[in-house]
Amino acid sequence: MTAQTSLLAGLDLRAEIDRLRKERNAVILAHYYQRPEIQDLADYIGDSLELSRKAAATDADVIAFCGVRFMAETAKILSPDKTVILPDMDAGCSLEDSCQPDQFRAFRDAHPDHIALTYINCSTEVKALSDVIVTSSSAETILAKIPPEQKIIFGPDRHLGGYLNRKFGRDMLLWPGVCIVHEAFSETELLKLKAQYPDAPVAAHPECPPHIIDHADYVGSTTGILNYAKATPARTLIVATEPHIIHQMQLAMPDKLFIGAPGADGNCNCNICPYMALNTLEKLYLALRDLTPVVHIEEGLRLQAKKSLDAMLAMASGTVGQGDLGAR
Ligand code: 13P
Ligand code: SF4
Repeated sequence: MTAQTSLLAGLDLRAEIDRLRKERNAVILAHYYQRPEIQDLADYIGDSLELSRKAAATDADVIAFCGVRFMAETAKILSPDKTVILPDMDAGCSLEDSCQPDQFRAFRDAHPDHIALTYINCSTEVKALSDVIVTSSSAETILAKIPPEQKIIFGPDRHLGGYLNRKFGRDMLLWPGVCIVHEAFSETELLKLKAQYPDAPVAAHPECPPHIIDHADYVGSTTGILNYAKATPARTLIVATEPHIIHQMQLAMPDKLFIGAPGADGNCNCNICPYMALNTLEKLYLALRDLTPVVHIEEGLRLQAKKSLDAMLAMASGTVGQGDLGAR
């Protein structure tokens, strides 16, 4: 037990977080991949697009972002006058790490006739080097608005980019990044599970590699997967994304059975996002108490990054949180 943890030992963390949220006029935004105890006390839970919209629209003074760093930075870019805190500043993302700004700039410079359509899972610097940001729920709507003859580079997720290329007959140039969590699903284990539950449809996130997507009945963002689970008459579902989303599924549909797609060892623990898992109730309490760790972004950089995010929000305006990339 650390010294800090033992100091917090007697505290009712939920009550303390509630008190601080009121005192600070704070809003707690949480992604579906957060621990259940964080999801349970959040003001809003959502996918990347919905959380961006909430962050842009809130009148709270403080945004406590329970997600990863690029999400908290997005909130700060869109709401510069708010204090944005992230319980653990080390909550990064393998996609962001794969795409260093100087290398991305070189990639852009090598393809001057291409626009950069960029997944939101990237740094503020990469957003500033991009033309339009997409999330998994807005990518289809946005791509459909870009003329087919327009050349595009897409980064950092090669699986989402490849999925979009296949679905829409595009030939976007792909940055070679992957999400370590979705990359870990095993096709062999998934096929075994499907044989065991032949009536269970598979819902997959588009960050999954093609050998997993090929077995999916539905492909979409976290919100899309949740909505699909509600809409399908199936009583059992196989879920190929970070398993913490199953908490919301079980709350909304207690009579259905949700099974996380397995990793190579047949155990889905390797699919828990290690970055998302860094946020805990203790750290959220401390962040609200001390208003740190706080997100800072240099103003010139922020304004440059905001252009590509504003382009997303404008181009995705018809996308009403359905998170829907649809059936394959
Ligand atoms: P969405 O919630 O937008 O589908 O994103 C998933 C994700 O990977 C977050 O890191
Ligand atoms: Fe990044 Fe993957 Fe974790 Fe999402 S699940 S934050 S894409 S590492």
